[in-house]
Amino acid sequence: EPEEGEVLCGEEGRGRLASLEHILAEAELLLRRARDLAGRRVLVTAGPTREWLDAVRFLSNASSGRMGYALAEAARDRGAAVVLVSGPTSLPLPEGVECVRVETAAEMLQAVLARFPEVEVVIKAAAVADYRPATPAGGKMKKGAEPLELKLEPTPDILRTLGERKSGQILVGFSAEVGDPVPEAWRKLKAKGLDLVVANDISRPGIGFEAEENAVTILGADGTREEVPPAPKRVVADRILNHVVRLLNR
Ligand code: C5P
Repeated sequence: EPEEGEVLCGEEGRGRLASLEHILAEAELLLRRARDLAGRRVLVTAGPTREWLDAVRFLSNASSGRMGYALAEAARDRGAAVVLVSGPTSLPLPEGVECVRVETAAEMLQAVLARFPEVEVVIKAAAVADYRPATPAGGKMKKGAEPLELKLEPTPDILRTLGERKSGQILVGFSAEVGDPVPEAWRKLKAKGLDLVVANDISRPGIGFEAEENAVTILGADGTREEVPPAPKRVVADRILNHVVRLLNR
């Protein structure tokens, strides 16, 4: 990035060519970046899902997709072949990653199952809707004076399905809770057959849903536990991938 200081015509501002020392340091960082996922195939899911009520309305949630996109980019930079299965987000699709766009939990399940046999790692950062309208209306529902009751049915639990079918893949789930997320995260790890679970407290201000930063606890089926203090999602992504690499190299 350009640096601040005296620029041409004696003016002050941001626009100087970065110092050679700075450029050299950045280049060295890039060259030394770990390629510890080279040759590995990693599937990441990201973003919310949409569960349609009728032709124009849906149930969804506030997931921005940033955590999953950061994971996909971090895995790519560490040498992995990455498939990103993404619900609707406003983020630009990452370069150098195979992107599959989906809307509903059912579509996400299909896309993930189709690629599951070919991958070694699945990271489920998507905020999949837990319920969907039992009988979506065709066309647009009309407004009436009476209260409207919606009947919802559970969506397929993608991660649990993968846990039942896994043949050596490493499964990473997320567990977003209000308050201490750790007890519930342990329960999910066991119930869904996960190798790692990333727990975060969404009631803490400035982190998690829609935020640039996240603070998480990473729990492993082997009993490991790491606290990651508030940090940009890309930094959190690399900390999660460190655990994935450790498990792959077991
Ligand atoms: O049970 P809960 O929805 O809190 O679990 C969260 C984890 O399970 C996340 O990793 C999420 O991507 C995954 N999940 C899923 N399919 C669902 C619901 C959640 O894969 N239907």
